[in-house]
Amino acid sequence: MRTLPAEFARTARLAKELGFGGVQVHAAHGFLLSQFLSPLFNKRDDAYGGPIENRMRLLLEVVEEIRSEVGTRFPVALKLNSTDQLEGGLGEEDALSVIAALDGTSIDLIDISGGTYFPGARAASDSDGSGPYFLKFAEAAREMTGKPLMLTGGFKTRDQAIDALNRGIDIVGLARALVLDPALPKVWKSEAVDPHFPRFQNPPDGGVTAWYTMRLLDIGHDREGENTWDLRAQVQAYEARDRVRVPVWNANTWE
Ligand SMILES: Cc1cc2nc3c(=O)[nH]c(=O)nc-3n(C[C@H](O)[C@H](O)[C@H](O)COP(=O)(O)O)c2cc1C
Repeated sequence: MRTLPAEFARTARLAKELGFGGVQVHAAHGFLLSQFLSPLFNKRDDAYGGPIENRMRLLLEVVEEIRSEVGTRFPVALKLNSTDQLEGGLGEEDALSVIAALDGTSIDLIDISGGTYFPGARAASDSDGSGPYFLKFAEAAREMTGKPLMLTGGFKTRDQAIDALNRGIDIVGLARALVLDPALPKVWKSEAVDPHFPRFQNPPDGGVTAWYTMRLLDIGHDREGENTWDLRAQVQAYEARDRVRVPVWNANTWE
């Protein structure tokens, strides 16, 4: 644990040296720093567990270590869960305490998200709500910090994006809408044309995300015009791809 902030900082420095325009610390979706924030996973009884002030300690150390490594002019963002959407997980009240604490750090942008990839929980990329998922929380966060705020999750229409901007959100994050139309930010600057979202009947857990993952692959290979709307076929293709690459990953892990 004591080496972790320096590891994050080293990675950020490498990203900077390689020419990236900024880095984002992932403290959402159930990854390590998100687990530290979550009372469901963090059962420590030292200075890093217990009340939220302790559970956020490692995160704040990581942020400051990155800053001292990359300097003041390199953008450092942070992705935070508004809620883990898990019983006993990080809730909105604690998440707002984290936002308030981040306000006193050198972070350049806070990206608000939610959910986790743990089995049995809902991942934001697999949800099918009818509007931005975490807008209410983001408005509460707006009251807590002057830092630029980004909101990601559930944006489907230009009207929703404009509404969020009017409510004090600085940046709208798009994932699936962008997969459906990679030119969308440009389109939305001048036209009120929204992407057509596919509707899947009873998708399996993870199926929607798998479908979008495969479509991203298709875009990368310039073949998104082909027939890709069949969810079951895409999930099968996704799983077949995993059967090939997981053994490769496993062979490359070290003890
Ligand atoms: C194919 C796909 C891959 C994703 N990969 C990541 C990822 O690597 N890291 C991450 O933080 N979120 C990832 N997400 C989640 C998105 O960042 C976002 O939180 C979620 O999809 C909700 O936003 P949306 O409604 O605009 O899709 C992914 C989403 C999709 C659809």
